Amino acid sequence: MNRLIVATGGTKGIGLAILEKFAQAGFDVATCSRTLVDLQGVKAGLEKNYSVRVFIHTADLSVSSQVKALSEFVTGLNRPVDVLVNNAGVAGFGLLEAYTVDQVRRMFEVNFYGVLRTYQAVLPGMRKQNGGLIINITTGASTSPCIAVLQPSKSRAAKVESVRRSTNTK
Ligand SMILES: NC(=O)c1ccc[n+]([C@@H]2O[C@H](COP(=O)([O-])OP(=O)(O)OC[C@H]3O[C@@H](n4cnc5c(N)ncnc54)[C@H](OP(=O)(O)O)[C@@H]3O)[C@@H](O)[C@H]2O)c1
Repeated sequence: MNRLIVATGGTKGIGLAILEKFAQAGFDVATCSRTLVDLQGVKAGLEKNYSVRVFIHTADLSVSSQVKALSEFVTGLNRPVDVLVNNAGVAGFGLLEAYTVDQVRRMFEVNFYGVLRTYQAVLPGMRKQNGGLIINITTGASTSPCIAVLQPSKSRAAKVESVRRSTNTK
């Protein structure tokens, strides 16, 4: 059986490029986005070009019930997850005082709590198999005063390192 990568936001941009690379390397892939027709296109394209299976699920990662459903979907595949890529993210540029609290909350839902929930979905399996890789796509733009809100919601690097240590993954 092929190994499995789960990557959020795999229909465009960086996420799609990641899925292409892993499919090329023989990984089955599972991905989500908010747009079913895009997901169907990705599934058709990857399954046509590579000998892999593609599992798709519509989810808005800013809605906690939908992230929970995504986690259940992944768990329901009954497959060890070899790689998790938290790619989908909400970006934001502008002065801090221009954001509404709801906008900031949405950023944290996707960039922080969404990531936390995907960890909770895959870590039990990774611990059991004593291996796995988690990659978080964050941002290098940490010092700009115009992304004062984005940066804390995207501060995932330290957390990933501690998860890697605690799961003894490579
Ligand atoms: N591009 C850059 O220059 C850059 C720089 C630094 C960091 N990043 C980070 O890299 C990651 C990918 O960026 P990108 O530019 O490749 O993005 P993109 O081209 O806009 O693609 C984003 C992907 O995530 C999905 N998505 C967005 N919001 C979602 C939500 N709430 N729930 C579920 N899926 C969602 C999108 O599909 P739907 O819209 O259909 O849901 C799409 O598949 C992001 O985390 C971004 O912050 C990008």
